[in-house]
Amino acid sequence: MTDVREVLARDLTAARERTLRLTDHDEPELLRQHTPLLSPLVWDLAHIGQQEDLWLLRRGDAARPGLLPPDVEALYDAFTQPRAVRAQLPLLPPVEARAYCAEVRGRVLDRVDRLGSAGDAAGESFAVAMVVSHEQQHDETMLQALALRAGPPLLGTGAPLPPGRPGVAGTSVLVPGGEFVLGVDAADEPFSLDNERPAHVVDVPAFRIGRVPVTNAEYAAFVADGGYADDRWWSGRGRAHRDEAGLTAPMYWGAGGAAGTRTRFGVVEELPGDEPVQHVTYFEAEAYAAWAGARLPTEVEWEKAAVWDPALRRRRRFPWGDAEPTAALANLDGLALRPARVGAYPAGASAYGAEQLMGDVWEWTSSDFTPWPGFRPMLYADYSAPFFGGDHKVLRGGSWAVGSSILRPSFRNWDHPIRRQVFSGFRLAWSVDEPGA
Ligand SMILES: [Fe+2]
Repeated sequence: MTDVREVLARDLTAARERTLRLTDHDEPELLRQHTPLLSPLVWDLAHIGQQEDLWLLRRGDAARPGLLPPDVEALYDAFTQPRAVRAQLPLLPPVEARAYCAEVRGRVLDRVDRLGSAGDAAGESFAVAMVVSHEQQHDETMLQALALRAGPPLLGTGAPLPPGRPGVAGTSVLVPGGEFVLGVDAADEPFSLDNERPAHVVDVPAFRIGRVPVTNAEYAAFVADGGYADDRWWSGRGRAHRDEAGLTAPMYWGAGGAAGTRTRFGVVEELPGDEPVQHVTYFEAEAYAAWAGARLPTEVEWEKAAVWDPALRRRRRFPWGDAEPTAALANLDGLALRPARVGAYPAGASAYGAEQLMGDVWEWTSSDFTPWPGFRPMLYADYSAPFFGGDHKVLRGGSWAVGSSILRPSFRNWDHPIRRQVFSGFRLAWSVDEPGA
């Protein structure tokens, strides 16, 4: 698979198959809005087509006519239509939304076919990859919406996963101090997004980082210890949010007041102790870390632990090496509907021995979302730049719901620290004194 046309066609098709699977429900189901934080699925569906129409058929020029009338297209502008009101808009019915997406896609595949075998200097192949990333990211938000859905289960219980390994929870690995290359360049990762670039050298003091993410059992010990009520562990903002939102445990825990259970896509089940905790806010992750005598890693520490090969003094494309992700290396692509138990992917370990960095849960870091030095906005100029410097914390590594074709260790996600409908967990870090650490 060396021809970029084949790669792009494959990735477009994989994303679309996933979108259609996630929206293969009747009209009332697709029109439901499960929370003001997320759109009804039928909005996501047509918005996916609208963005593809805009970026690929019109090269981002919104003044050029698209395939939808302007007043209809305006319904799918994410910046002018707040999520909370999208269910009240006169949206395209599902059958029309599907037909629109199919029409756009047919034209796009024709264009991909006409690209040169190495892509093109004008960046058309990048634009296609950006649109694939956009669609896959909406597929993940659709799963967030479906997780919130009330009623009988719609998606089943998910595909099987490899078993975990006992003894890895709570352990950590050392990352010695020194320089590494943070971020990527287009020459290495042509489909990397603007906020991942450019590659630059940074010096990182020695630290330890969790070998695996914090588990449900570990987090349950914090809850049982009265961690939510003990102000010592909470930052000022964390306390305020905890009290206002009435937080007492991760989202989806203890359905109906039952201890030791959780609700997952409508199924109530026993809480698996050795699975990474998910659906926690940044503030809950921060409080747990304080209780545990640790802290959250910075995103720079996280990326070094994930990609740096100290023996070869170079980055790996993925924690385990340069090979593309497979089901033996990471839990991705949204089929499992849950994170894998810790220790499930020893072959996916980084050079430093950290595991499950890709997939499973998005990992909160202590970093605010800011540009790397030398940042330049991409074709979709408002993808990252409007969010720099806002009230956002960076999450790294991708969840089980992320499409494998769009994820890189340099991928930066960001969200408000109070959000937890995302598939968010965390791992711990500790500063250490060198030498002899
Ligand atoms: Fe979008």
